[in-house]
Amino acid sequence: MKLLVTGGAGFIGSNFIHYWLKNYPEDQIVNLDVLTYAGNLENLRDVENDPRYHFVKGDITDATLVNDLMPDIDIVVHFAAESHVDRSIKNSADFVHTNVEGTRVLLEAAKNIYVSGRPIRFHHISTDEVFGSLSLTDKKFNETTPYDPRSPYSASKAASDHLVRAYYHTYGLPVTISNCSNNYGPYQYPEKLIPLFITNLIEGKKVPVYGAGKNIRDWIHVDDHNRGVDLILKKGKSGETYCLGGSSEKSNLEITQLILELMGLGPEMIEYVPDRQGHDLRYAIDFTKAKNELGFKPQIDFKDGLRHTALWYKTNTAWWQPLKQ
Ligand SMILES: NC(=O)c1ccc[n+]([C@@H]2O[C@H](COP(=O)([O-])OP(=O)(O)OC[C@H]3O[C@@H](n4cnc5c(N)ncnc54)[C@H](O)[C@@H]3O)[C@@H](O)[C@H]2O)c1
Repeated sequence: MKLLVTGGAGFIGSNFIHYWLKNYPEDQIVNLDVLTYAGNLENLRDVENDPRYHFVKGDITDATLVNDLMPDIDIVVHFAAESHVDRSIKNSADFVHTNVEGTRVLLEAAKNIYVSGRPIRFHHISTDEVFGSLSLTDKKFNETTPYDPRSPYSASKAASDHLVRAYYHTYGLPVTISNCSNNYGPYQYPEKLIPLFITNLIEGKKVPVYGAGKNIRDWIHVDDHNRGVDLILKKGKSGETYCLGGSSEKSNLEITQLILELMGLGPEMIEYVPDRQGHDLRYAIDFTKAKNELGFKPQIDFKDGLRHTALWYKTNTAWWQPLKQ
């Protein structure tokens, strides 16, 4: 099999490439990544000379390049995106361009291969944020939850999900979508909550908690997410969507306290800052469909995963320090 992985130099994509090369030694991977601030070839230094791996620096919105890459690809795994909500609030243009137009360009190229008679499969990586916000008592999101995106980031991801489904219904392109909850683990850019807080504390800085820290997210280790994507590629049905979650609902304050505990520090290191505009209160994922149909189950306990992640950032200061300057 030959996979086109987009955004493979980012957090989840680089973990996916490591996972795939380890578990599928016969397969080949082309990693298409434009290397925005979030793309980092250091994440893949250990595989850069692996003959099964090939890096292409380029933009998913570049139709000529994407059409050139597509003809011998069996599976597209589409991670590339602008991914940080706070950045989308400041400037939404890149989010619409990459997340919507980039997805359309990839779909169009895959569709051209498919209608020419060559089998191809398209898996789109999406987020639980497309479903909007839950109250503390609402039922968790599942595959039937109506879309209600509320940030420019989640709106652009929702639009891309709709395009993926449109290419299935209109052209029959074999597609699957996963809507996953918040990921954590190694190689996450230190602007996101968990790596930001861990690295701040290593540097002796305080951690900025939005509002009263009451917002709740469902956390999943990146390896569990990638195991879920693998199961979808193996057993998922074309045209279907699968919600993936970690069964670990935690408020931002709970996460902060756990990280402080791991680092041997106390509440004096917390700095409460004004809340994010339009901050969704709660996300939570019901992954019964993925469990029943694919056998998906997160394997990494949140506290263990967090401890390993904190240790990874402690022992890999050379990876993240340049990113915080
Ligand atoms: N991080 C999470 O918690 C989470 C949760 C659910 C879903 N997702 C989704 O997973 C995917 C990956 O997220 P991440 O956290 O790894 O993101 P990331 O920001 O760490 O990485 C994104 C990668 O995409 C690349 N990229 C951006 N624009 C590009 C373009 N125009 N052309 C080619 N490459 C481009 C970047 O260089 C980077 O390497 C995204 O689609 C995101 O929406 C993320």
